[in-house]
Amino acid sequence: DKIEAFRKRLLNWYDQNKRDLPWRRTSNPYYIWVSEIMLQQTQVDTVIPYYNRFIKTLPTIHDLAQASEETLLKLWEGLGYYSRVRNMKTAAIQIVEKHEGVFPRDKKDVLALKGIGPYTAGAVTSIAFNQAEPAVDGNVMRVMSRLFEIELDIGKASSRKVFEALIYELIDPDRPGDFNQALMDLGATICTPNNYFPETSPVKEFNASYINETWERYPIKKST
Ligand code: ADE
Repeated sequence: DKIEAFRKRLLNWYDQNKRDLPWRRTSNPYYIWVSEIMLQQTQVDTVIPYYNRFIKTLPTIHDLAQASEETLLKLWEGLGYYSRVRNMKTAAIQIVEKHEGVFPRDKKDVLALKGIGPYTAGAVTSIAFNQAEPAVDGNVMRVMSRLFEIELDIGKASSRKVFEALIYELIDPDRPGDFNQALMDLGATICTPNNYFPETSPVKEFNASYINETWERYPIKKST
């Protein structure tokens, strides 16, 4: 059916075009968590060396739980938003105390960790554990808005749940992590805020705003 065809198109494109990123060569949930936290406010190219140094210095959750403030500050210096790594240390201690140092698989348990919200929980559980969970950030909302002519204001907190419900319908049950990362790559390369090239999109025939020539209208962003 149509959803099947969409998944196939998107994943075939991802297989042939995905960016070769260090956190895509692991299924260690701790490493994927580190990458997702770093990527929240920082560009991919900047994150790569920080990510490599971080997991080399603190290769396990136990290492992070025991890391000194000084070590963490050094590893994070230049990335900004230092509270991100302080929260990660708190979460690592939670994992050691409540989950014997093993990153939890249950989304409820993941969401209970300090500094982890719906986006990060969805990213880690889908990428590391192959769970069919959405990972909706601003980029994914932009992609989905253009694909489906979604009239919701993506600046509104309440919109995210609607986008998540849509992803639950669309997500590939066999490759949820790749599906989510394919949407991220689409948003980073073809469906960017300022340069939109719908004619080069692997899913252009599913793209309502391309078909209807309305794409300049999306995403809707009223609040600033
Ligand atoms: N941005 C946030 N998460 C990402 C990921 N897993 N791959 C590429 N870009 C991302």
